[in-house]
Amino acid sequence: MTEQTGIAIVGCGYIADSYRHCLKLHESDLRLVGLFDRDAVRLRAHAEYWGGRVYSSIDDMLADDAAQIIINLTDPENHAEVTRAALLAGKHVYSEKPVAMTRAEAIALRDLAAEKGLRLAAAPCNILGESAQTLWKAVRSGAIGAPRLVYAELDDGMIHRTNYREWKNRSGKAWPARGEFETGCTFEHAGYVLTVLCAMFGPVRRVTAFSALLVANKMTDPPLPNPAPDFSVGLIEFDGGIVARVTNSIVAPYNHRLQVIGDEGRLEIREAWDYACPVKWRGVSQNRLARFLERRVQGIGSGKTVPMVRQPAMRPGRGEPTMDFARGIVELARAARDNRPSRLDGDFAVHIAEVTEMLQHPDRYERPGLVQSSFAPLAPMDWAQ
Ligand SMILES: NC(=O)c1ccc[n+]([C@@H]2O[C@H](COP(=O)([O-])OP(=O)(O)OC[C@H]3O[C@@H](n4cnc5c(N)ncnc54)[C@H](O)[C@@H]3O)[C@@H](O)[C@H]2O)c1
Repeated sequence: MTEQTGIAIVGCGYIADSYRHCLKLHESDLRLVGLFDRDAVRLRAHAEYWGGRVYSSIDDMLADDAAQIIINLTDPENHAEVTRAALLAGKHVYSEKPVAMTRAEAIALRDLAAEKGLRLAAAPCNILGESAQTLWKAVRSGAIGAPRLVYAELDDGMIHRTNYREWKNRSGKAWPARGEFETGCTFEHAGYVLTVLCAMFGPVRRVTAFSALLVANKMTDPPLPNPAPDFSVGLIEFDGGIVARVTNSIVAPYNHRLQVIGDEGRLEIREAWDYACPVKWRGVSQNRLARFLERRVQGIGSGKTVPMVRQPAMRPGRGEPTMDFARGIVELARAARDNRPSRLDGDFAVHIAEVTEMLQHPDRYERPGLVQSSFAPLAPMDWAQ
């Protein structure tokens, strides 16, 4: 039997429910030893629904020797402070994204972890999913020839026109609209695309970005004092000349399409947030008929289905997560146990945080922005070699 790693969750809010659901898939690797939230009502509601021992304070949690990895599910503005406290207490940390809100903070956390001989890793972990691994393997095996261009959209719908006030998770927590609008959709979502692209193509070298706040009044009560940009588009250049156009918004109709275009065709995923999403391949339309069909008939998701590298491990029911949020924690736990690098290690997290900040706040950087951080190449999952 695999050795179990003890984990403790801090931040029992909206997304903690998805983690609890996914942790059930990994009981042979991970053992939840406790929970903490500084809001006692939220902590109690979570523990009553999902079970689990509650700590009386963050110090109580950090003093628990059974907690080897702290899972930081606080809101982004609190990530750095909580992660720093956990590292100082001698714990490995798996943080929700972004690992920090600035490049400088992310670097400081990574360096602190290294100094203490600890590991720091960050979400998102969708690159460890079957769909992303299938896409990556198809690119590696030359299915589209030399990759040249990526179009990635993370338009999450016109959130301010939805009934977002009524969105609740299973343990009754409301979707944290104010925090999401103040953090910004680029900080919240860009990582789902950047992690996949960086795994496939290596470090980003240059970023040219534009961001704007298009809808200042998102119907919050009271109005937001400091709303973040709700739209960004960036051109990202990788070593080797591959270019990606990455769009993030919460003001345009839902579209999570990721297309990788090469000399011999294109690969496409319709939904970057679904580990079981099929990967489609289309060749290049060269003759007149093929170009006619492309113009008139072929829509999103058309083409040949690429065989999945393995059967998707998750079979989500209605209302259940389509992403396995705990897979990144398992990766960290196994890497620590096997004394090998984790695929989502601190350097990778710093790089994703830096590029994300450049997309959301291009004003903080030269144009084009030269990316300073880097990371060692990621290995595909063993089952996707
Ligand atoms: N909401 C989503 O749909 C979603 C999806 C994927 C990932 N995420 C990520 O998950 C993280 C959490 O998001 P959420 O939606 O659950 O937010 P949330 O606001 O619902 O929950 C955060 C919780 O952290 C607690 N907290 C904050 N600072 C703390 C501290 N110092 N000590 C103890 N507890 C503290 C808060 O009391 C709150 O209960 C964010 O990084 C977000 O980007 C959210």
